[in-house]
Amino acid sequence: MAVFIEQVKLNILSKLPLTASSLFYLRTIVKKIIIAVDGFSSCGKSTMARALAAKLGYLYIDTGAMYRAVALYFLRNDVPYKVDERNDMAVADAIAHVKIEFRETPSGKATFLNGENVEEEIRQMFVAKQVSKVSTISAVRRFLVKQQQALGKDKGVVMDGRDIGTVVFPDAELKIFMTADPKIRAERRLLELKSKGMEMSFEEVIHNLTERDRIDSSRADSPLRQAEDAIVIDNSHITPEEQLDLALDFTQKIRIPNN
Ligand code: DC
Repeated sequence: MAVFIEQVKLNILSKLPLTASSLFYLRTIVKKIIIAVDGFSSCGKSTMARALAAKLGYLYIDTGAMYRAVALYFLRNDVPYKVDERNDMAVADAIAHVKIEFRETPSGKATFLNGENVEEEIRQMFVAKQVSKVSTISAVRRFLVKQQQALGKDKGVVMDGRDIGTVVFPDAELKIFMTADPKIRAERRLLELKSKGMEMSFEEVIHNLTERDRIDSSRADSPLRQAEDAIVIDNSHITPEEQLDLALDFTQKIRIPNN
């Protein structure tokens, strides 16, 4: 048995294929953990977190999508959320009418707002421009953090956002903090937007992401910051595959006992 266990560990660490019996054994011994992925805007958190969750058979939760869905609801319903016009009663009342779900669709997992698929709309620039302001509101954060904690209560989850390792799951077994050069982030984002048929200038994109970083890092409630026990990945000069390999290595070291 001991030899078998060592062989399974070796295969995982050297990324060799696992036999059916090793996989069965793995599911029984490996710890289910929470993986918190935080970091700046547009630095590939969701690409990495989604791929990591798929590899591990974990649930993936994009908390940015939740804030975006709330922002979309506020915009559609003229909820007064801006600092100079904010009405706390109206905000609290509006949030009570927001229901966010993640559902499987033929084109993958999508964000639903009150039963409507809003996955595409929440990625548009008019939402990106407002979402950081909506995210500064404590009532919004309390509402979403509660749901995020419920989604991760059974562990086996990869969650990405800005405050996952500091506020949502301060005891997460693995915390990854991602960063990259702002110019490289803007170039990647521009390519992604173009591939979706959205035309935008480099200046507009870099302005949006640095402005979001500024608001996200300086807000009073749960600002974006690196948790003390987080592992930093700067992906300016590494490929998504190399980044995923790094994250998988960190994960396996924690999940496999005595490794
Ligand atoms: O990850 P994203 O770019 O889709 O997130 C959109 C915005 O939501 C981001 O600018 C800040 C906010 N956000 C947050 O405040 N806390 C989180 N856990 C996730 C996102």
